[in-house]
Amino acid sequence: MKYIDEVSISNKRVLLRVDFNVSLNPDYTIADDARIKQSIPTILYLLERNNTVIIVSHLGRPEKRDSRLSLVRVARDLHNYLPEKKVILIDDFTKDKSQIEKKGANDVFVLENIRFYPEEKKNDQPFAKKLAELADVYVNDAFGVSHRANASVVAITRELPSYGGLLLKREIEMISKAVNKPKKPVVAIVGGAKISTKIEVLSKLIEIADYLILGGGLANTFLCAQGIPIGKSYCEISEVEQAKKVLFLAAQKNTMLVLPQDAIVGNPADVSHGGHVMKVEDTPNNGQILDIGPETQAQFGTIIAKAKTVIWNGPLGYIENPMYRRGTDFIYYSIAQNRDCISVVGGGDTLAAISKKEYLDNISHISTGGGAMLEFIEKGTLPGIEALG
Ligand code: 3PG
Repeated sequence: MKYIDEVSISNKRVLLRVDFNVSLNPDYTIADDARIKQSIPTILYLLERNNTVIIVSHLGRPEKRDSRLSLVRVARDLHNYLPEKKVILIDDFTKDKSQIEKKGANDVFVLENIRFYPEEKKNDQPFAKKLAELADVYVNDAFGVSHRANASVVAITRELPSYGGLLLKREIEMISKAVNKPKKPVVAIVGGAKISTKIEVLSKLIEIADYLILGGGLANTFLCAQGIPIGKSYCEISEVEQAKKVLFLAAQKNTMLVLPQDAIVGNPADVSHGGHVMKVEDTPNNGQILDIGPETQAQFGTIIAKAKTVIWNGPLGYIENPMYRRGTDFIYYSIAQNRDCISVVGGGDTLAAISKKEYLDNISHISTGGGAMLEFIEKGTLPGIEALG
């Protein structure tokens, strides 16, 4: 596999797959454009070498055309980073290529949401061929979607000379650094709601980490597995046995698996009153654990302060309600304050959950991948990366 800075690509038409699947507000405006910002170096690199850049991305999970998930806002946002350029949204490349063919000197093209075409998710080869007709070269800078065998990620590489972009390169280098021979102690923090999608990666993290800190809804399933009553808190009952296996594995490998000791218990819908602090085992029958408590913050904070490597994915509370973002903010600040560690933080949701992002520069690497980062940690590769090889 080669990256664009290892070959010479100039005066070419480049089909650039990015992950501009940005976090959206409920009204579909952009909440956080970090994913756009992080691909700008690749776009500039290609433009500086006189290439025509044709950007491909998905947004959300539409089954068919849905104007709310149009890339029109994304194209506008992109223009803010490329003020000298004219960013042109191509409504349907399968019907009309004339705008690309008539390209002006300053034009950058963005194809409309690639998931508006059902062939994309099917990794359809004829569809990839149609995409390939637009370009001479394909570049994958979309780490965040490289775990999906989709037409614009995998099938396309059979049609065009294919390379990795600068963001893909950084993602692979930084995550590998944190996972392969990391400086110890290694602290892995995993949050989010579901354990079912994270079992494999938890097992892998147990092998890498000295401490595995769990928070969010996922931790509740582990509390259940330990027989702790958690009232009406979110819990994946069907995964309790799996959680028991993870607890056993951690004990076997001498990895300290750390669960919340206290919690904020409240009503998820109440945005004017925060919940009550209590020990997890005191959660009343009708109570819901929505965030980690202060004692847990202190404990997690002490562990993070000693870390030389931190890997973090997933929020630690019910962040949909800002009342329950404090634990997640606290973890972020604890990582940002440890200037002596390599830190890799992943998942759009994790970042979108942080209220104030003023210390982002203190984080060694903010991955654009959520699921992709976890799968890369687990397997050491992804279908989209394999396809470039
Ligand atoms: C992500 O947000 O994790 C990526 O853009 C992939 O999106 P998907 O989970 O909808 O495939």
